[in-house]
Order: sequence, then structure tokens, then C-alpha cells
Amino acid sequence: MSIEITWFGHATFLIDTGKYALLIDPFLDDNPAAPIKSGDVKADFILITHGHSDHIADAVKIAKRTGATTVSNFEISQWLTKEGVKNAVGMNIGGATNLPFGRVKMTIAHHTSTLPDGTPGSSPGGFLLTLDDVNIYIAGDTALFGDMQLYGRDGLDLAILPIGDFYTMGPEDSIEAIKLLKPKRVVPCHYNTWPPIAQDAKAWAAAVRSQTSAIPETPEPGGKIKI
Ligand code: NI
Ligand code: MN
Repeated sequence: MSIEITWFGHATFLIDTGKYALLIDPFLDDNPAAPIKSGDVKADFILITHGHSDHIADAVKIAKRTGATTVSNFEISQWLTKEGVKNAVGMNIGGATNLPFGRVKMTIAHHTSTLPDGTPGSSPGGFLLTLDDVNIYIAGDTALFGDMQLYGRDGLDLAILPIGDFYTMGPEDSIEAIKLLKPKRVVPCHYNTWPPIAQDAKAWAAAVRSQTSAIPETPEPGGKIKI
């Protein structure tokens, strides 16, 4: 299976399996780093890690335009349904389900999750995706935690980790996360969107190379990675 992953800046990714377009944490229209707008992105499924606006801002309009199914925790799925999303899958932490594109498990994240209108979004999460024989871990906004070791046990082809610091783990803790997860490749996100989360991606990549066995990938917004 050939999978193409595009980073749209911040925590927004498009994972294209060739058959399905999986949009992760859509934040485009108000994202200063995004190279496209929400009206120009494709989606069959929209995966949402938590309720913060920098992860969910464009989910409702994209779901309405494309008819995409959203995948999130239960409380966020109820909120999306109330906002007019027709197909909302509401899971919870530790659970997995088979969807047309593959298997998705919702993982722990240590963070908060209030929705844009102030509604509590319940527990934030991440996703473990099994797309045919490819395993991808999307940490979501989170601190470092030891159970990442368990999330890497089946082998990860790619891990997507925040490195921005301030709101999530920073570069140093992301190195520890990589040591626990042991992915083949790693992509940083949630950095350089605004001044508080400015980071040096080249320095981070050098640290990944010298301290872990993972290959760092640092696309520019709009850049692609192939698996
Ligand atoms: Ni957040
Ligand atoms: Mn965030």
C-alpha cells in the first residue's frame, strides 16, 4: 500500500491511502501556516483528537461540504452532530473500530479539550491507525507519558508528534517519546504556527538522528511524505 501524507501546518494532516482521504485535525482558514483553505481540501473521514479550535475549527464545514464521516471521542461526536454533521463516529479512549479505510484506536493524551463554544470536549486523545500493513501513531496534543512504549509495541511506520512546547510536549520530551515509541519515521507538528510554539525543526531533526534510531521528516506546510 502506498500512502501519501501532506502536512498543512500546525496539527492538520491529510493521509491519502489512494482510496480514502483521512483529514486529521482540520484547522486551515485561521491557521497562519496553512497553504490551503478549508474549501479546497478533500476528506472522506475527518479524525479529531480533541475539542480545541486549532484542531476542530473547520471540521463542521468540511464535513458538510464533503459528506465526510467524523471520528472523535463520544462527547465531541455529539457536539458535531448538534452542529449538523450527518455521520459522526463517537469512540472513547482505548477503544478501536474497523472503518472502511482500516482500523483506528483512540489513545491517551494528557491535555485539555474544551470545544470552541465552551462546551466540555471530555478527554483529549490520539489515534493509532492500521492502514493495511502500515501503522501510524498520531499523538495529538499531549505531554510525554510512559505508556507510549505500549503504543509502539506492534511496530510503527510513522509517528506524528507535537514538538512546539508550551501547550504540548517540547522538542526534548519528544525525543524521549521517540525512544519509547521506536517508530521508523517521525514527523513533528504543532510548532511554528505562532510565536509561543516557535521551534527549530533542523535542530530537532539533528537530535532525533543522534539520539534515536528513527528517521526525522520535516516537511514545510504543504509538503508530502510517502510511505
Ligand atoms: Ni489542544
Ligand atoms: Mn493544539
